[in-house]
Amino acid sequence: MKKILLIGIGAGHPEQITVQAVNALNQADVFFLLDKGYENDDLLRLRTEICERYITHEDYRIVQVQDPQRRGDSQSYEAGIETWHEQRAVLFERLIADEVGEGEVGGFLVWGDPSLYDSTLRILDQVLARGAESFDYQVIPGITSVQALAAQHRIPLNRIGEPIQITTGRRLAQSRAEDIENVVVMLDAHCAFDTFTDTDLYIYWGAYLGTADEILIAGKLKDVSAQIQHAREAARREKGWIMDTYLLRRPR
Ligand SMILES: C[S@@+](CC[C@H](N)C(=O)[O-])C[C@H]1O[C@@H](n2cnc3c(N)ncnc32)[C@H](O)[C@@H]1O
Repeated sequence: MKKILLIGIGAGHPEQITVQAVNALNQADVFFLLDKGYENDDLLRLRTEICERYITHEDYRIVQVQDPQRRGDSQSYEAGIETWHEQRAVLFERLIADEVGEGEVGGFLVWGDPSLYDSTLRILDQVLARGAESFDYQVIPGITSVQALAAQHRIPLNRIGEPIQITTGRRLAQSRAEDIENVVVMLDAHCAFDTFTDTDLYIYWGAYLGTADEILIAGKLKDVSAQIQHAREAARREKGWIMDTYLLRRPR
């Protein structure tokens, strides 16, 4: 039986990787690195570095492939995602068929943790449902960017007994300010927090968390919103890509 490992590798700091993940890295015969084509190779380089740093033998292969790009011209956001996932399922099926031999182990290095805004698990289920390939698979959890954000700002995500919501920039833009208590926002390309500058919300923002380029800004949203947007745009222009996450919190 073939086996696939989905290994959470943390959100940027090469030491934020678990012992279980290191052991899993050492089990795999082949790793699949998906090149998204817009990250200026930084994230691919980090994945390769993780392999070199933690794998104690040289008997493994790395297969780098171009990840299909999600197209923005579909009828709806959901339809665009569905088409994109189908394309990825075809690619994953081919990789598993061609690159993982019977009895071998294939590894996907998943940014952060595979359970949070990551489609690898869903796509492996799709590959199994297509029926051409059969394999066992296991998930090895990783440190998420949400945990990295809280650690770097030295804050708990919630105060005593309060709930936490994790959402996307797209969804935040449709939210009402009065519904925000502790909201972590990911995948926000358009600074959706700027809609709420007439509130008394606080923001804890972090970009490139855990990496040498990390930027942290925190304060009253109305005071720091422009500063964050400026820092975000300057960094994005300089590096060619950005990943940022933030917590919005209502003061007591
Ligand atoms: C596709 S999701 C992947 C999330 C990942 N599975 C996790 O556990 O953090 C990508 C989003 O995660 C956040 N993110 C991932 N790595 C980050 C980092 N190093 N610094 C800041 N945000 C990060 C950003 O909001 C980015 O848009």
